[in-house]
Amino acid sequence: MSKPVRRLDQILANLGYCSRSEARGWVRGGRVLVNDEKATDPADKAPLASVLVDHLPLECPDGLLVVLNKPAGYICTHDAREGPIVFDILPHRWVRRNPPATTVGRLDKDTTGVLLITDQGTLVQRWTSPHHKVPKIYEVTLDGELRPELIEIFAAGTLLLEDDVKPCLPAKLEIVGPHEAQLELVEGRYHQVKRMFGSQGLNVTRLHRSHFGEYTIGDLKPGQWRLLPLPAG
Ligand code: URA
Repeated sequence: MSKPVRRLDQILANLGYCSRSEARGWVRGGRVLVNDEKATDPADKAPLASVLVDHLPLECPDGLLVVLNKPAGYICTHDAREGPIVFDILPHRWVRRNPPATTVGRLDKDTTGVLLITDQGTLVQRWTSPHHKVPKIYEVTLDGELRPELIEIFAAGTLLLEDDVKPCLPAKLEIVGPHEAQLELVEGRYHQVKRMFGSQGLNVTRLHRSHFGEYTIGDLKPGQWRLLPLPAG
């Protein structure tokens, strides 16, 4: 099978290095090599695997998937007018990609932990759809004492939150201390963890997502991220 070839200016623009018009300067400046030879014309076509930019292979030419250990204080949006955003702590070229990198679902500003970022719309779709029931595990600290009956209430699949029309799907609650619990959800409604505990008279004072499907932060410190291989299929 022949390898897909694309114009160099299109490659650079789609992967977020620069705009198509700026690509001319990058090529003329000798920053782009094709098969180890300096490229001369941004309109030349090349297979992605043969291109180097600043002597490095193209970054994630087939798609971007990243896990970030989200620190508190950052919002999951592209709109910088809303305050510090998670994309402030990631390479800016990722949001210039076409399609741009987005978060897979959202965490609240004060929530920490596993946040996936990708430019693959199908992954966002698959991982945020309630039909796919991707498990998410949250470590929760509360301002009051956890009652054992909450385990049954959350597991029942009958808990109807204010303003919702459908009850929450069954969730697994594990009580790990008087004020600490782990909650596993398979959906991702707006402020779901806080609203579930709120419905039982408890306020969440700390919220950390430790797992999103098979993904964890491993040894990433807050604000650190790691590139991940794209899942098969
Ligand atoms: N549930 C919440 O209430 N907040 C989050 O950030 C994630 C889940």
